[in-house]
Formats: sequence, C-alpha cells, structure tokens
Amino acid sequence: MRILILGGYGVFGGRLAELLADVPDIELLICGRNLASAQEFCGRYSGQPTVVPVRLDRCDIVGALRDLQPDLVVDASGPFQDYGENRYGVICACIDAKVDYLDFADAADFVFGVSQFDKQAKAAGIFALSGVSSFPVLTAAVLRHMAKDMDIVKVQGGIAPSPYAGIGLNVMRAVVGYAGAPVKLLRDGAQSHGVGLAESMRYTIAVPGRLPLNNIHFSLVDVPDLQVIPPDHPKMTDIWMGAGPVPEILHRILNLLAKARS
Ligand SMILES: NC(=O)c1ccc[n+]([C@@H]2O[C@H](COP(=O)([O-])OP(=O)(O)OC[C@H]3O[C@@H](n4cnc5c(N)ncnc54)[C@H](OP(=O)(O)O)[C@@H]3O)[C@@H](O)[C@H]2O)c1
Repeated sequence: MRILILGGYGVFGGRLAELLADVPDIELLICGRNLASAQEFCGRYSGQPTVVPVRLDRCDIVGALRDLQPDLVVDASGPFQDYGENRYGVICACIDAKVDYLDFADAADFVFGVSQFDKQAKAAGIFALSGVSSFPVLTAAVLRHMAKDMDIVKVQGGIAPSPYAGIGLNVMRAVVGYAGAPVKLLRDGAQSHGVGLAESMRYTIAVPGRLPLNNIHFSLVDVPDLQVIPPDHPKMTDIWMGAGPVPEILHRILNLLAKARS
C-alpha cells in the first residue's frame, strides 16, 4: 500500500509515519513544500515501511496523484482554517482519481462541509474521511454509546494535551486565528457563538474509585465537534468544547490576549 502524507515531515504527519513504523509492506510518500526537510525526515526514519521524500504543494495534488499513484492520501498539512476558496481541492482530486482520502482537520467549518462529498465518494468507491482525530471522533463515539440509554442534551468536553506533546507551527496558526474571534456553537437550544479562548471553565476528572486527576483550566476552542456532533443528537441544546494546555500561567496569558482582541 502506498500512502501519500501531505505534511509528512510536520509534527502530526511525522507522528503518523512513526506510528506506522512497525507495519511492513507499505510505502510512505513524505510530502511537503521543502524537499530538504522531507529528505532529512526520511534520513532519520527507522521503521519497516519504505519512505520516499517528495516535494509537493497540495495545490499540485492532481499531477501528484497521476504520477505517484498512491492508494491513500492523508492531509496532515493545514492550517485547515485557511484553505481558502478551493478548500476541498485535495478531496475533489482524490474522488476524481478514485483514491481514498482522510485528513486530520481541526477546523469546524472545513469538517462540517465534507459531508457534501459523501455521495460522490461512495459512487467512486472510496472513503473521504475528515477530522480523523480524537476531536471529534472520540467525542462522537462516546456520545453515540451513551445515547443508547439516555438523551444527550448538554455536552461539555475537553482535551488536555500533555506538556510533552509537540505543537506544530500550523497548530499555532490555527489557534491564533480563532483566539478572540467568534466560535459557532449551540447554546440554549439556538445557534450562537462564543469567543475563542476567552471563555474558560475549570474541571476535575474524577473516575469513581480512582484518585481524581489534577483540576484543569479549559478554554473554548473552535473544533469540529461543535458543528458535527449536534445533528447526531436531536435533543441537544448546548455544546462547549475546551482545551486545557499547560503550564496554566501561559494558558492564562493566552486568555488575556484573546480577550484583548475580542
Ligand atoms: N484534529 C486534530 O486533533 C489536530 C490536532 C493537531 C493538529 N491538527 C492540524 O493538523 C495540521 C498540522 O499540524 P502540525 O502540528 O503537524 O503542523 P506542522 O508541524 O506545522 O506541519 C505542517 C506540515 O505541512 C506542510 N505543509 C504546509 N503547507 C503545505 C502545502 N501547501 N502543501 C504541502 N505541505 C504543506 C509543512 O511543510 P512545509 O511548510 O515545508 O510545506 C509541514 O510539514 C494543522 O492544520 C493542525 O491544525 C489537527
């Protein structure tokens, strides 16, 4: 299987390549706009897959699909918030070339819009999956399971990244983009908006019978869950999703800057 990873030497694309290190018989095309960085990544990669550095801007995906003939394209480049007018160009190219597609998009509008390609993707016999990450996939899975026994009315969710997790430049660009800006969400049963990173709440995760985790300060983030989860649960009136990065002092400085900008 040949997998083309856009942003293959970035933090998330690179992590995917590393997680696939124990899978034999696959070829990873490590793509980005800088050939030297792709070559450097491939040079230090150790794992069973064959890795190939490729200079590729996602704008040129049509030719790359024709020349490189991948079985799957993974878009881990971003920032998905800034994909502009032709934001689904990679998806359309994959449907035309009948190549499976998935992305790690964290932009609510981008992920919400991908369902428009459902029919075309099915007709082409391929998968086109967007937002394939903990937000919104784990949220959706947990809520669907809970919905078997109860109506889901109000959701408050959070993600608390480890301080040791690497953060890429494109994540920073995404966060800076919505800090202090309106974030679409469902509140009191109506479409409304909050202010990105300027609304916060504290939460302690306490699993019965276990020591509680540290109390964490979460702030509103613009993630796909806010738009793709409510249609799944007709009785839902509210959804709020936060991130709790640490150290908290830096998180609070980010809150102040977001408030100053709003
Ligand atoms: N869903 C989630 O939970 C989640 C979590 C974290 C991150 N993300 C998203 O994943 C994306 C990547 O994050 P990251 O931390 O890995 O960022 P990153 O370290 O900055 O990596 C981005 C990679 O994409 C490449 N790239 C950028 N523009 C490109 C283009 N036009 N064509 C081809 N390659 C391009 C970059 O290389 P060059 O600039 O050299 O081309 C780089 O290799 C971001 O949009 C981020 O918001 C999603």
